[in-house]
Amino acid sequence: MRTYKAFHQKSITDYESFWKEQAEKIDWFKFPETIYSKSDEGFDRWYSDGTLNTSYLALDRHVKAGRGNQLALIYDSPVTDKKMTYTYAQLLHEVEMVAGMLLSLGVTKGDRVIIYMPMISQTVFAMLACARIGAIHSVVFGGFAPNELAVRIDNATPKVMLTASCGIEVQKVIPYKTLVDQALDLAAHKVDHVVLYQRPEYKAEMIEPRDIDWQILKAKSKPAKYVEVKSTDTLYIIYTSGTTGKPKGVMRDNGGHAVSMKFSMDYIYNCKPGDVFWAASDVGWVVGHSYIVYAPLIQGCTTVLFEGKPVRTPDAGTFWRVINDYNINVFFTAPTAFRAIVKEDPNGELKSKYDLSSLRYLFLAGERCDTGTLKWAQKLLNIPVIDHWWQTESGWPMIANMPGLELLPVKPGSSSVSVPGYNMTILDQDGEEVGPQEEGSLVIKRPTPPGFLTNLWRNTERFIAAYFTKYPGFYNAEDSAYKDAEGYIYITGRMDDIINVAGHRLSTATIEEIVATYPDVAECAVIGIADEMKGQIPVGFVVLKDGVTTPQEIISADLIQKVRDNLGPVAAFKTVYFAKRLPKTRSGKILRKTMRNIVDQKPFTAIATIEDPAVLDEIRDLVFQKEVLVEQS
Ligand code: COA
Ligand code: AMP
Repeated sequence: MRTYKAFHQKSITDYESFWKEQAEKIDWFKFPETIYSKSDEGFDRWYSDGTLNTSYLALDRHVKAGRGNQLALIYDSPVTDKKMTYTYAQLLHEVEMVAGMLLSLGVTKGDRVIIYMPMISQTVFAMLACARIGAIHSVVFGGFAPNELAVRIDNATPKVMLTASCGIEVQKVIPYKTLVDQALDLAAHKVDHVVLYQRPEYKAEMIEPRDIDWQILKAKSKPAKYVEVKSTDTLYIIYTSGTTGKPKGVMRDNGGHAVSMKFSMDYIYNCKPGDVFWAASDVGWVVGHSYIVYAPLIQGCTTVLFEGKPVRTPDAGTFWRVINDYNINVFFTAPTAFRAIVKEDPNGELKSKYDLSSLRYLFLAGERCDTGTLKWAQKLLNIPVIDHWWQTESGWPMIANMPGLELLPVKPGSSSVSVPGYNMTILDQDGEEVGPQEEGSLVIKRPTPPGFLTNLWRNTERFIAAYFTKYPGFYNAEDSAYKDAEGYIYITGRMDDIINVAGHRLSTATIEEIVATYPDVAECAVIGIADEMKGQIPVGFVVLKDGVTTPQEIISADLIQKVRDNLGPVAAFKTVYFAKRLPKTRSGKILRKTMRNIVDQKPFTAIATIEDPAVLDEIRDLVFQKEVLVEQS
């Protein structure tokens, strides 16, 4: 039996032999002789001379091994009242067909394909089909508006886009194709084709000859075989929010990714081939990439694609229904989903209708797990509830309790300990390691392990500047944290202006850019404030230009709509405060952190360089005015 400590130690001190041993657990076409190396620019590279195919690993390999009749994918859609299942053999066939469709449109190795699709089986086929032919997919989350999609189209320059006529949000039909058309009008880059899957719930208009019907193309296409790719070839690009308005195109390789997926299923999720794994997320986020699609399939598990919400589809018992129906063994979601359930069913009474005896673990990630939610889930489910920490950049957990290795005691407020492969340290402003209980910047000592981002698409300079410059030799996670004497890590928040809204990572800078371009706005600051259900939500503080006579309610409604139209509904931007001025330093820098503390009612001290401390009271009055008035009446 391996203990966590020894295993972690080996992963740090003897990382080449550690990751060679893990690489032996997946099937390569050519097993790598070089385990770790550096790229020409000096970046960490894994298995550089190995070759493989991720779709082969996720599908063909299991069929060849006689598991063709095992369930691979379960599609469960309470919003359309549909359910579908695919065995490994059936899923392989569907993926071969979509791969053939892409080949027929001239898509080949290294070409990009943007996938803007809802949570339907075809989206999974599409991702694996790209992997099969060595094309690079970039899945864009459906809650982003056309403008954000256009930015990604111009950065990824895809040959083809795959979409569906609509997404369904509880009862609302969202016409995805219309959003794609708008995005393509906005983008400078032109795609060769848009392949559209018509859903019965909404029929989209086609713009010919650019647009091609999915089913018609499928009927004309031939199944495609997998191609051999290099370990270091890019499997996908996933865009994530950075501190500027422009998203970062996180690049993931094939070889390191496959090894990390398998490793995490073995040691973190303790999930064996044949088990049923469910990540209630969206394929547009990294959790969906890794734990709806790649990891469960590479591991030979059954995965669940759930097109619904934790509540309202139809009620707060829907998670328990899915666990019961498919005998889920390991379940993964975001704490916000549980908070949504608690709000509607505080005593978890809906659970009593279902048998959850198959469930072994609940994993939570994507945002801070508050102690209340952790304890509620522990009491209700009576199984280990494991908070774990990771980022789009890592693609798999970096801090976690690992039942597949050794289940350590759970400490509320901590995501537990560094995962093997990650040498996590906490540094002060000068780059010195801090002691136990001292807060600082959470960093990873290089080398970063397999699966970790390899670069930012077409932006090596930003890759270096964003992650590796502040603390040379370390990856800077931009989260603040402290460790206790036993090495448990407690995440305390982001160091930058990224906020986390219902488990979705958003940049306040993007929202600020949208608000600032409104003609009546002189200046603005957007900050994230605590929200009981979503964790955080953005609010705007706006200073209007002199002489503006338009009523504030109209400007406020316009700004809210503008953010929705430009960034997307997922931003949940619903509050605007009109201020006379914003707190600034004498050099003109807006004091966003101080504003955050005021709004969250946390202690703060006015910094010495503040222009005029009285403005802090003005901000406080603005936010709490209503409450003060209520108290007085
Ligand atoms: N396509 C189009 N629109 C979308 C969308 C998608 N894929 N996903 C969300 N939206 C829209 C919603 O319809 C909503 O629009 P509205 O303002 O018109 O109501 C808005 O974006 C916000 O959506 P959401 O964040 O889902 O909030 P909600 O209030 O509808 O639901 C929760 C709240 C907590 C139930 C929901 O956020 C949730 O299930 N979160 C889990 C988070 C998660 O899985 N995170 C991934 C990391 S593990
Ligand atoms: P994303 O890249 O969207 O996965 O967001 C990553 C960010 O979400 C991290 O940098 C953290 O700020 C936050 N986050 C993710 N998981 C956790 C967790 N378990 N606890 C606290 N914060 C988390």
